[in-house]
Amino acid sequence: MAGLIPQHFIDELLSRTDVVDIIDAYVPLKKGGKNHQACCPFHEEKTPSFTVSQQKQFYHCFGCGANGTAISFLMEYLHMGFVEAIEDLASRAGMEIPREAIQASQSNNKTTELYELMELVTEFYSRQLRQHPDSKKAIEYLKNRGISGEIAAEYELGFAPPGWDSLMKELGRSDESSKRLANIGAVIEKDQGGYYDRFRDRVTFPIRDQRGRAIGLGGRVLGDEKPKYLNSPETPIFHKGRELYGLYQARKVLKEVDCLFVVEGYMDVIALAQFGIRNAVASLGTAATPEHIEKMFKVTNKIVFCFDGDEAGIKAAWRGLENSLPLLRDDKQVYFMFLPEGADPDSFVRDKGRDAFLDISLQTPLSEFLFNSISDGIDLNSSEGQASMTKATLPFVSKLVSKAPALTSILIRKLSGICKIPSEELMSQLDEYTKTGVIENKPLPRTGNINRDNHGQQSLLTESIKLLLRKPDLALESSLDEKLLEINIRGIEFLTEIVKYIQSNPNTTIAGITENYRDREKIRKRLIELAPSESQYGDDDFSDEAIRDSFFDAIMKLIELTNQSKLRQFANVSSLEELSEEKKNELRSILEKKQSAGKERSED
Ligand code: UTP
Ligand code: MN
Repeated sequence: MAGLIPQHFIDELLSRTDVVDIIDAYVPLKKGGKNHQACCPFHEEKTPSFTVSQQKQFYHCFGCGANGTAISFLMEYLHMGFVEAIEDLASRAGMEIPREAIQASQSNNKTTELYELMELVTEFYSRQLRQHPDSKKAIEYLKNRGISGEIAAEYELGFAPPGWDSLMKELGRSDESSKRLANIGAVIEKDQGGYYDRFRDRVTFPIRDQRGRAIGLGGRVLGDEKPKYLNSPETPIFHKGRELYGLYQARKVLKEVDCLFVVEGYMDVIALAQFGIRNAVASLGTAATPEHIEKMFKVTNKIVFCFDGDEAGIKAAWRGLENSLPLLRDDKQVYFMFLPEGADPDSFVRDKGRDAFLDISLQTPLSEFLFNSISDGIDLNSSEGQASMTKATLPFVSKLVSKAPALTSILIRKLSGICKIPSEELMSQLDEYTKTGVIENKPLPRTGNINRDNHGQQSLLTESIKLLLRKPDLALESSLDEKLLEINIRGIEFLTEIVKYIQSNPNTTIAGITENYRDREKIRKRLIELAPSESQYGDDDFSDEAIRDSFFDAIMKLIELTNQSKLRQFANVSSLEELSEEKKNELRSILEKKQSAGKERSED
């Protein structure tokens, strides 16, 4: 491959590149004498033996022998291919790779053609939005969603006309070109031969890579048909796990803003842009991958993941956290933003406005999310709890040690405060983990674990209402009434009321329940928000049994929270004698309940 890009171009490129800058962006370097130094990114070490020479434009590790140029660094460290590394450096240096050189390579030649064809497809669809006789409804749709012509133009929104062959007729006239259209996923080959358009009667969202090349497409139906969105499949030029929708546009404003927001959907990016927030990208419905995060950290120091505040959102956030940890550096930051249940960035920014979305008090730092998730369900006042908190947390922190030393020590100090174990002791335990490589079981995030006091209770309560709406006959279970009486937290009356309604109308449906609140508009709206929606992906495999278990699990947790808060009243009492007879009985009964609840669980 190397021979295909002329050597003189590579020389020129390297002379315009500074290996120190390139490496420093990923492995912060310290100047020591003539050279720059760091702990080697290619092997584990405590004292730096990795040196980078600006004069020679070369790096070398005295420990493991790794060495090379800026090109080899990108290949080794970021796992880029040779051509990809050249392309990356060329784009940083603002240089064009000589065209003949690319065309000399068969495979590159083909990819170039695919990019060009994708560009034509993109143009074709945006032209249809302006010209096609049926495009009025698409324009109407976009207008209804509050999108201006300016934003539609900037994001090159388009319209895939109804019918099976609009694109085929335009760009697939020869067999050769149809094959290429199929290769980029724009048309689909029929079993019996021939091709048809993949995107039909949809608004289209072109996907560009960060350099601006057209690589794929998304398409949304104008109504309620399924599937709501179609995306380009994996193709030689489109890899969903690597690309971020909107990154090309976001890069243009990154000099003026300090972060990138990561949202779920196309429309979230567009709506935020409509409100002047142009630094949002979408991971296209998948959790952010390490490659996504790496890509973002190349262009910004701060990533803010936005999620729905429900269980799925918390799970996705946890994946984001796990994928971010190994990529964190001392100058990089990750935050999590949990939107209210049922809201997405699109609806949030429309309801609450731009300033509310940008309010940084909505952003939870990674460390806080980590500690809160792990400590959920652990009693931090007991020494067992403190020990298990430490044990569970250190493996996560150990992922940062070599690459983000300052952040590591901040986390250790915080953990020390939480667990009341001296920092030095934690540090030496951390050392031990890092050396012996003992891997602990990862705690999974659970419902209600962004547990800022009330928040946890409220999301548990919401969760149980949601589950009840999915399976109203849960209200008919005989033990429920008694359990509900034990719960004493804000808002529980709402759940109790719904349960009562179902009990007196056992054949009711969600529609019936919401109708019951017709004259209380706020509650009715809230219920509709909480009502289960049909799963978008068709992978809704919650069994009745699982719903029942989760429901009673939530109820039991609510009882426990009630008991905990009752117990807190007794926290400052030093002897039982201080208490009135009545209070003593209350305390006894709470403790008994706690004990029997514990037994029930250990028998499971
Ligand atoms: P959402 O359903 O949350 O999308 O899916 P959204 O952007 O909020 O949709 P609307 O237009 O406001 O109703 C988030 C993302 O998941 C992917 C898409 O990338 C979408 O933007 N997705 C969703 C699919 O790929 N297919 C689907 O059927 C649904
Ligand atoms: Mn939406």
